[in-house]
Amino acid sequence: MSSTDTLFSDALFSAALAAQARAHAPYSRFRVGAALRDEAGAVHAGCNVENAAYPVGTCAEAGAIAAMVAAGGRRIAAILVLGDGEALVTPCGACRQRIREFAAPHTPIHVAGPQGVRRTFTLDELLPASFGPDNLA
Ligand code: THU
Repeated sequence: MSSTDTLFSDALFSAALAAQARAHAPYSRFRVGAALRDEAGAVHAGCNVENAAYPVGTCAEAGAIAAMVAAGGRRIAAILVLGDGEALVTPCGACRQRIREFAAPHTPIHVAGPQGVRRTFTLDELLPASFGPDNLA
């Protein structure tokens, strides 16, 4: 990563860490935070919000995207997902498609743990040959 990229991912890391601490995850006890930078440079964060009716729960990425859209942002320049544990907390399949709606193939998806970014993927690496808005144009 370049130093500019590192600065941006630091801002995303702090925002995701703060959001993770506010997650509502009483059922899985697996707290996730996500933060993204939009086309104007604004940062939007979200956390997972579970529900007693399990399938109704939402992922951290969905929260961050909803916050971006509600604030007027329309493009994801970069996104960071943060969770605990040994395994990389990569976005779930549905969230890859949610990110796809607002991102480009080369958009970075940073995967972080409590100590910082562990790996960075592009959207195209996590969701190759994807279906998107262009298919409906
Ligand atoms: N979770 C996320 O918030 N994002 C992901 O991409 C992976 C999974 C949440 C959903 C659920 O609340 C908990 O993690 C366990 O699956």
